[in-house]
Amino acid sequence: MIQIGMDYYPEQWDPSLWEEDAARMAALGVKVVRIAEFAWSRMEPREGEFHFEWLDEAIRVLAGHGMRVILGTPTNCPPLWMYQHYPETLQQDRTGQRVFPGIRGHRCMMSPKFRFYARRVVGEMARRYAGRPEIFAWQIDNELESNHCTCPTCRAGFRDFLRQKYHTLDRLNDAWGNVVWSGEYSGWEQIQPPLGPDYETDWMNPAWLQDYERYAAAGTADYVRAQCGWIRQEDPEARITTNSCFPAHLPDFYQEFAPLDVAAYDNYPVGALPRDPEALYSNGFALDFVRSFKQKNFWVLEQLAGPTGCWAPMNPAMEPGMLEGYALQAVAHGADLLSFFRWRTAATGAEMFCHGLLDHDNQPNRRYWELEQLIRRLERYPRLDETALHSEVALLYAPDQEFAFQNKRQSPGFAYWTQLRLLHEGCMNLGVNVDVLPETASLEGYRVALVPTWLMAREELVHRLEDFARRGGTVLLTNRSGVKDEHNNCLLGQPLPGPFRALAGCRVTEYDPIGAERTQQLRSASGQTYAIHTWCDLLEPEGAEVWAAYAGRYYAGTAAITRHRFGGGQCYYVGTVGEKALYRDLLACLFREAGVDMVPGLPPGVELTCRSGPGGRYRFLFNNTMDRQTVHLEGTELELAPLEVRVQTEKGEWQ
Ligand code: GLA
Ligand code: ZN
Repeated sequence: MIQIGMDYYPEQWDPSLWEEDAARMAALGVKVVRIAEFAWSRMEPREGEFHFEWLDEAIRVLAGHGMRVILGTPTNCPPLWMYQHYPETLQQDRTGQRVFPGIRGHRCMMSPKFRFYARRVVGEMARRYAGRPEIFAWQIDNELESNHCTCPTCRAGFRDFLRQKYHTLDRLNDAWGNVVWSGEYSGWEQIQPPLGPDYETDWMNPAWLQDYERYAAAGTADYVRAQCGWIRQEDPEARITTNSCFPAHLPDFYQEFAPLDVAAYDNYPVGALPRDPEALYSNGFALDFVRSFKQKNFWVLEQLAGPTGCWAPMNPAMEPGMLEGYALQAVAHGADLLSFFRWRTAATGAEMFCHGLLDHDNQPNRRYWELEQLIRRLERYPRLDETALHSEVALLYAPDQEFAFQNKRQSPGFAYWTQLRLLHEGCMNLGVNVDVLPETASLEGYRVALVPTWLMAREELVHRLEDFARRGGTVLLTNRSGVKDEHNNCLLGQPLPGPFRALAGCRVTEYDPIGAERTQQLRSASGQTYAIHTWCDLLEPEGAEVWAAYAGRYYAGTAAITRHRFGGGQCYYVGTVGEKALYRDLLACLFREAGVDMVPGLPPGVELTCRSGPGGRYRFLFNNTMDRQTVHLEGTELELAPLEVRVQTEKGEWQ
């Protein structure tokens, strides 16, 4: 059964409301309630003085209505006494100032003092609730970012990280190329995180920034591992996760989730969809990406239930169908649990207009009835959680590539995520399931490996991709692959795409970083014309055939996309960035050759995914647009309302 959950903050409401809230949630069909994540000041109002009676009572009330809880550790929000007594537990920002504790999430997750208190409160909780049947799972902290704190502990940590990696300053200076601008260190104490009021990464050494990002991401992973240990020490059977989002300082999710049992995500798709199908936002990539953290089904711990309005003014009202459509889209991409944010809109605090399911009036509303309809609908598929997405197409992602792109920008508007998203949307548009995979994952069982902008090439991956192609697989590489070494320095003395050259069967003779604003034309060998932008690699085939050539400027007629037969398989190299139709057509061609099942002709913005397994086979057709869409599928004509999801079971009927 797909579990339906609700995010609830009992400490924010008068206890006289708890009973009625619980009864109403249970009547709706809610099975798990996520609580406690920010409530440290109620658990330990004064240092060492613990009060869990209120939490016992809240759990008792919820359990009295047959619901279990996801217990959040409250470590995102230490009480103010901690900052008062131990200011060293506060983060320092990039200017070196301690942050002002007026919002949340101010703690330095590496501070030994903070860890002492965090461990104590989490230990108290875990001891108290260990093994209790009311506990469904644990959530660590909240929406962790990569650790960019610059306090003395974190600075020292960075130096230790580098000492362990390079051993000597000579090696470090050499690896980072510090001779440039007299950046050579003559003492370890000179090493700092990239900071300063003029923090402008464009002017900083990309090799330094790269190792700093790795250190920052490792810190977050270390913090998660530590918390996991604190819980498991008291409750070895505990099921533990943390809720992820995509903040400015992206962690390395693969490392972060390694010690956790299940991946989880806070799913807030946009509240207002653009009309332009070219600009259409698809949240499918985010969901498939989260599934990749553990390469299995995941949970959504915050699912959009009302228009948000906290970090920005309020969003427009949710369109009819949006609550249900987005929730089912998450299921369609592998979610087995959906916990909605939040039961009732806060009446106090910064998020008073970040709407939950119920508004301040506490009355059932249009969204409430829509959620009820969704829950009744999901109850018709009791074994849906015994299915998973199976894919023949892998889309490779690496945090290191992400960092490298951020640390040294390419042409204006060129973003790693855009490249991933374009390929992903191309697959969605053809009704093809995609698995996002970390670099180290096995490609066994896949027919196609999409490898966009693999800036930093590691020999190991190059060999595995060559091997994959030799044995019949299809690889797709794009521009800016094979440019850099593992330190984020440029590779010297070999034409691009560097170590991928043999596989790609072409070389880049020149490149033109035209930027995302400038549009040019491309013509495929089959005579189609496409708009391109952002980047143009001028390719010289070395055994590859030309799939498309530039149609303008001084390089008109020069190869832009090539196809190279390699062993039993092949490799496509895409030297530019194009409009969405280019990816749809290119991928359709490649999938046809590779024998990947697809459904060409889906209207833009319509997604088709499939879950299958012992629980049956389910196809999900989602109209992620604000217009009605007609879809022709295997001789059936289907009409979809805006944001509607249709589900097909083994019986074949679309419900
Ligand atoms: C995040 C947080 C929540 C809340 C919501 C509001 O996802 O985890 O606590 O602030 O945003 O949209
Ligand atoms: Zn710190």
